[in-house]
Amino acid sequence: MVFFLFVLLQVTKPDLYISDRGLLLFLILFFGGILQFSTRQALRGGEVFLRSIPAVKAVEEAVGRSTEMGKPVLFVPGIQDMNQVETVAGVVILGHVSKMTARYETPLNVPVARSIVLKAAQSLDGKIALKNGASSWISNSQSRKDTHLMRAQMKAILVGKNTAVNDNPALTVRLSHKELGLANSLPIPQPTKIIIGDIKKASEAKKIFANNAKVITGSRKSGFVKNNVEHLQYKNKNFLNAFMADLLARDISSVLVEGGQETLNAFISNNLFDELVLYTAPIVLGKKSLSTVNLESPLLIKEATRLKLHRLEKFDADVKATYFA
Ligand SMILES: NC(=O)c1ccc[n+]([C@@H]2O[C@H](COP(=O)([O-])OP(=O)(O)OC[C@H]3O[C@@H](n4cnc5c(N)ncnc54)[C@H](OP(=O)(O)O)[C@@H]3O)[C@@H](O)[C@H]2O)c1
Repeated sequence: MVFFLFVLLQVTKPDLYISDRGLLLFLILFFGGILQFSTRQALRGGEVFLRSIPAVKAVEEAVGRSTEMGKPVLFVPGIQDMNQVETVAGVVILGHVSKMTARYETPLNVPVARSIVLKAAQSLDGKIALKNGASSWISNSQSRKDTHLMRAQMKAILVGKNTAVNDNPALTVRLSHKELGLANSLPIPQPTKIIIGDIKKASEAKKIFANNAKVITGSRKSGFVKNNVEHLQYKNKNFLNAFMADLLARDISSVLVEGGQETLNAFISNNLFDELVLYTAPIVLGKKSLSTVNLESPLLIKEATRLKLHRLEKFDADVKATYFA
């Protein structure tokens, strides 16, 4: 039947039929036919042979061995983005592994590739705030909504002390269940809030500390600790690496860094980021405004920090560019 259809189309070549792809059509129909036949056979109660895949068997053995030894399972689904077919395949296997580990109550650690994401809303001339510190609203409401979606996917949002104090941001996810694609019965995920720099009391950044939110602060000086607020103090001047490691130890495996300039400078100069997301709005803020970043110039162009453009999106008149480090 399949062969007959294939020959008929090849000979008559109807308008809607691309004859160059005849072989592909034949193969799809042929294998589709086998699948259909086997499915019917299985539904009728016939015996179906499924070849076991040695690699999947090895994964099962590895989970069993970890469980016996009382050690957690480490699963790396790849280092590429979610839209790569290799990662999708890895995540499918992760589904299988997570069911096994849940059954045996074995801890499962899944490190993710893009864990530190820097984000800024900037003007056409690369500025994130006016000279007086005003920065709301550079990007439009669609871009801001997209930021909230990003927030919902991260374990934490980090800002520098000046941003926390001057802007008094809430750093919460303000989207509905529907906008997040979540069932109404589930809670809206709220990332932990992180402030880098000296904060002495909650009233300095009221909205961040509101509603007993979980907040972690990090600086070289002593900070305040209460209820859900933890302070991490460091001796070294450059403690960013140690701070990120301490956050990871607290299960904060993904951080969205939302500025300001000094904070972005620190993450970029320490090469401590995986992704940079820039929303560029079609406005000009002028030379006295605060630049998105303000790093030392390299001596040669070839020594400059160069990122890889990953994706460009348009939110009304704003352009979102996602770069990989
Ligand atoms: N358009 C946007 O997307 C956007 C986003 C955020 C902020 N902004 C704007 O940016 C401006 C603030 O930027 P900013 O550069 O002045 O300040 P900032 O980056 O918000 O905060 C700087 C402070 O954070 C602490 N800090 C940052 N990096 C550190 C490090 N590596 N180690 C230790 N401490 C560190 C220090 O606090 P201590 O001095 O206490 O040690 C430092 O003084 C505001 O006007 C805000 O509106 C714009």
